[in-house]
Amino acid sequence: MADRAHTAVGADPRQRTADLALRRRAAAVIPGGMYGHQSARPLPPEYPQFMRDGRGARVWDVDGNCYVDLMCSYGPVVLGHQHPKVEEAARAQAALADCQNGPGPVMVDLAELLVATVRHADWAMFAKNGTDATTMCCTIARAQTGRSRILVARGAYHGAAPWCTPRLAGTTQEDRANLGYYTFNDLASARSAAADAGDDLAAVMVSPFKHDAGFDQELVDPAFARGLRELCDASGAALILDDVRCGFRLHLGGSWEPIGVEPDLSAWSKAIANGHPLAAVLGNDRFRAGATDVFVTGSFWFSATAMAAAIATIGALGAEAAIETMQRAGTALRDGILRQAAAWGMEVNYTGPVQMPYLTFAGDSDYALARVFAAEAIRRGAFIHPRHNWFVSAAMTGEDIAEVLAATDEAFAAVRRQLGNPGS
Ligand SMILES: Cc1ncc(COP(=O)(O)O)c(C=O)c1O
Repeated sequence: MADRAHTAVGADPRQRTADLALRRRAAAVIPGGMYGHQSARPLPPEYPQFMRDGRGARVWDVDGNCYVDLMCSYGPVVLGHQHPKVEEAARAQAALADCQNGPGPVMVDLAELLVATVRHADWAMFAKNGTDATTMCCTIARAQTGRSRILVARGAYHGAAPWCTPRLAGTTQEDRANLGYYTFNDLASARSAAADAGDDLAAVMVSPFKHDAGFDQELVDPAFARGLRELCDASGAALILDDVRCGFRLHLGGSWEPIGVEPDLSAWSKAIANGHPLAAVLGNDRFRAGATDVFVTGSFWFSATAMAAAIATIGALGAEAAIETMQRAGTALRDGILRQAAAWGMEVNYTGPVQMPYLTFAGDSDYALARVFAAEAIRRGAFIHPRHNWFVSAAMTGEDIAEVLAATDEAFAAVRRQLGNPGS
């Protein structure tokens, strides 16, 4: 435990000049200085905005400060940064060609590998980002069924297109006109939303577990998942699993494989190519015709380098038992953090699968304590997030975890100072 007598807030030991200079330049030429989920603006000021490099479970910001990486680029990095086999495969493909007049043979190789790996899949299509994949799932479901309505869980994140972005600026009511809403893990609410849709129900979209930013995470109730499957079977709608965030972190066969519920369509991105830009839609034969009819494409969707990286990533995930490694590392992290919380007399919730955990403080509805915790952790070299789940990569070593725990112990100390000592 950190020295409980130590109460002074030390000066930030890190160099920040390059980051601050880049922020000033960016403010002039990039709207808001930065945008989207990687904007450091909503984060405590201790966070760097600009990053320089990464290796294994370590990342360095533009000032050369080193962090143990518990955000993994918000999910894409699963084997660790610069995984040698993935980078070698990407380099070999890039030396041949990347973006051409047609896809390379790797597109077929990768589709075959995904169909062999993910149980529900009979075919695969590729794109770039998770939003491409979730949007494409909706389009295919509508093309196949000839219906319009898609049900989504209230508060769930499925991407940043006008139909699903959490911020309404620039969207129209019409963008959402064909959505219906249910509550995650509440089958009655899904049935009721399906009844509202009547014979216009095209699909039910669901994430493998509830991972809405800023809230305690909730694992899926298998009875809820089975109920959604039955609802879709009874109505002819597509069950769409949004595996963009969890895919290849929980199970190689798809995140609902352990509970035995197969979706019709699944959306993938983030971790499938260990940081190389790629997304995929996987589907079963019932939706093949719809997938064949739609016109979906993009200038960079068929680039070969990311596909070669994906093949190497999937190979390494299996060969290196990466999911088991993440589970072990995630368990050690969870146990350490919960021990520290108890020792500091702090009531916390540590939720979600251990490889994608999220920490909240009891009663911290405005995230004030989470921000104090995160600010102190980042100052001490643990790259976590106050309002988003964390990601444990398979590159995380015992030494990395020990460093994170040294930082989080100091972070709990900072929260304790903020709250005042119990009994004082
Ligand atoms: C569950 C889920 N779906 C879709 C997306 C959108 O992915 P992308 O940001 O690659 O468009 C995300 C991104 O965080 C996600 O977590």
